[in-house]
Amino acid sequence: MVCLGNICRSPLAEGILQDMAIKAGLNWLVDSAGTNGYHTGEPPHHLSIKVAAKNGIDISKQISRKFTSADFDMFDIIYAMAEDVLDDMKRIAGNNFDSAKVRLFLDESFPGQQRDVPDPWYGPEKGYHEVYEIINNNCSNIIKKHKTNHLLYSV
Ligand code: 4NP
Repeated sequence: MVCLGNICRSPLAEGILQDMAIKAGLNWLVDSAGTNGYHTGEPPHHLSIKVAAKNGIDISKQISRKFTSADFDMFDIIYAMAEDVLDDMKRIAGNNFDSAKVRLFLDESFPGQQRDVPDPWYGPEKGYHEVYEIINNNCSNIIKKHKTNHLLYSV
């Protein structure tokens, strides 16, 4: 899960998808990173922590890190929260960029519409609740889609 600062959007996506995967019995390792590195070493934004906690998810122990080209060696699927993030990922990964592994996060719910998860960073708490709902719904779709594919492939 990749956004710009790795303190608002992608920590929520990491926390929510990891929680859903565990509850669905899926042995997935979900991680997150940011392309700008401005907040490296910091915990998530206090409003992301607050909104996640209100929904029963603890993201307070996450630590922001910068996205690196080595993430393409470590992970099978890499979700970009927005198109500007995708552009940054291309620049950072250089020759290691693997388009087969990359998806725009909301393409899982709205294929081909190139929708971005809005960045709540500059706004009030309301934006964090809205972003939580958007990310939560999309994570449900990721899990559902995986289960459907899994059933198809295992028949
Ligand atoms: P995020 O939000 O990408 O959802 O973590 C941001 C947080 C910090 C900055 C930009 C976006 N920043 O430029 O510091």
